[in-house]
Parts: sequence; C-alpha cells; structure tokens
Amino acid sequence: MLIVDFRNFKIYKMESKKEIEVTSAKENTEIVEAIKSMRKEKNAVILAHYYQEGNIQDIADCVGDSLALAQWAAKTDADIIVLCGVHFMGETAKILSPGKKVLVPDLEAGCSLADSCPAEEFEKFVIAHPDHKVISYVNTTAAVKALTDVVVTSTNAKQIVESFPKDEKIIFGPDRNLGNYINSITGRNMLLWDGACHVHEQFSLEKILELKKNYPDALVLAHPECKQVILTLADHIGSTAALLKFTTQSNTSRFIVATESGILHEMKKLSPEKEFIPAPPNDSTCACNECTFMRLNTMEKLYNCLKYEQPEILVEESIREKAVKPILEMLKISERLGL
Ligand code: 13P
Ligand code: SF4
Repeated sequence: MLIVDFRNFKIYKMESKKEIEVTSAKENTEIVEAIKSMRKEKNAVILAHYYQEGNIQDIADCVGDSLALAQWAAKTDADIIVLCGVHFMGETAKILSPGKKVLVPDLEAGCSLADSCPAEEFEKFVIAHPDHKVISYVNTTAAVKALTDVVVTSTNAKQIVESFPKDEKIIFGPDRNLGNYINSITGRNMLLWDGACHVHEQFSLEKILELKKNYPDALVLAHPECKQVILTLADHIGSTAALLKFTTQSNTSRFIVATESGILHEMKKLSPEKEFIPAPPNDSTCACNECTFMRLNTMEKLYNCLKYEQPEILVEESIREKAVKPILEMLKISERLGL
C-alpha cells in the first residue's frame, strides 16, 4: 500500500510538519512498486531519455536518445506513453501516435534550444530563403517541425544531410553548434539558425584542459551541441547513444564527459569498472551540466502522472498533419541506414 499521495504531498507536509524524504529507500520502493502496477494495469509504457535522474531511468521500459524515443513511440502498442524527457520529446511521440494518450511528468520541462527558435521567426527565415530545403533538429516545437522538410537528431544528422545532393541549398536549425559541426564534417555550407542549448554551451575549456593535465589517459567525449572549441579537443563526438556505445567499446578506462551528466548513470551501469568524470561548466557554483528542464521530472511526478493520467500532451491536428511528415521521413531514412 502506498502511504503518500503525492498530489496532496505538499499539503500533508504542511499540516503534519513531518519531513518526508521521498527518496528514502522505503518510500522509493513503494513508489517503484506502485508505478509498476499502474503501468501494467493501464497498459502504459515508460520511455526515458538518458538525461533523466537515475531512478527514472531504472524504472523505464526503454531508455534511449531522442531518435530511439521517437522510434519506440511510433511502434508501441501501449495505450499510454509516459515520456520522461522534455516537452518536444512528448510532442514528437504524440505526433507519431495521435491515437495514444501521451503523458509527461512535468509539462514545464521545456528546452532552451527549442525556445531559441520561435516558429513565427523561423517561418520568416524560411520564407526569406524559398530555394532552400529545411532541416530541423528534433529539439524544436511541433510548429517548427511543420515548416520543415526533414527532421534530424544528433544520431542521424550527418547521414540525413548527406542524403541531399551536394549542391542542395539547406537551412539548418536551430542549433548553431551542431550545424557548424555537420557543415565541417560534410563539407556543406548550410545556412544556420542562431540557437543553442544552455547546458552544452556552458562547458569550460580551461577546466577540461586542467582535468586532462591531471588525467592524461582520459578521453574527452562531447555531444555535438557543445561549442566548437570543446569539439576541437574532444576525442570522440556523438549523440548520447553514440557516446555511450563508445564507452562500452573503448579500451580506455577513464572518460571526461561533456554532455548532460544524467548519461553517466547508464555509462557506469554498463561499464562499472570504468571512471566517468562530468566535464565542468564555466560557473562552478551551479550544476550547469544538468539540464534544469530534464531534471524537473521526478519519481513523485511520474507516479502522479500515471495515477491521474495528466499532464497530457496535445497537438493541434492542423500542425500535427504537417509536422508528422518530416518526422516520418527521418524515421524512414534512419531505418534504411540501420540507425
Ligand atoms: P540526443 O539526440 O543525444 O538524445 O540529444 C538530445 C538532447 O537534448 C541533447 O541535449
Ligand atoms: Fe534542451 Fe539542452 Fe536540455 Fe537537451 S540539454 S533538453 S538541448 S536544454
């Protein structure tokens, strides 16, 4: 029996003045059991991104990167998809599976990168370049995807850009760092939207170099959303899934990881004998290598979300009809490439 109703949790805390540590082992076990039984009862599937807190990753049916989350959401036969990630991930799931109920633990879990590309502004940019194809990173709103020819994630961006003829004029948005990186490895000259992620822009070159001095054997792993100066010194660049795979296959036993630190949970799980050092941000007083949006999701909110079947992601049908095409195009190309 679960003794804490998290919808009333704050009230209970105020009335009783009793501290409830919801992450204590006992209550955590109770929450885990309650979530598992609701999931079964409601035929729900829990999909989690690698940037979620460890407890959420551990209870999820599938843990993956943005591409994997979209692939699972498109294929699942569950009645309810609980997307433990950020808003655009839930939106992508709803666009692909409109007949299913898509829930997110916290509707406020947005994305600074998606926010850096408002649809009205992006539309003006697209209209100003009518001879360009439009490639959008999955970290965008449904309204931006509706203006797009093909969506990409960090796992498939290179291959999808390369699937266009060499002389094709392309707009790439919204991440300038990923766009610059793809331009540099494909020899393209895509027109870039000037957006960025607040987590990946924060990594400190000086502090990574300092770590390298202390641990000369460590390899630096970086997500392509990092600034060019970080990518230049990285030993391996890739999506969260690609970085994870690299750590399992490499003979090296120490890594400095320049992406959101939630990925360390799965890295340690798959390679417990190896050491993973989160790359430090510029401001050492903040936990800036944690995505504030991703970390809004908690076990308590996941419990509530399954129990009350809210908050629910809804996408206006006129937008969904347009946004689904570039996402399906991405899934089709990815399947062809075996990604
Ligand atoms: P992935 O494509 O590696 O999942 O990246 C998602 C993301 O939000 C990175 O910040
Ligand atoms: Fe968005 Fe950055 Fe958070 Fe990824 S880490 S969800 S890009 S804000």
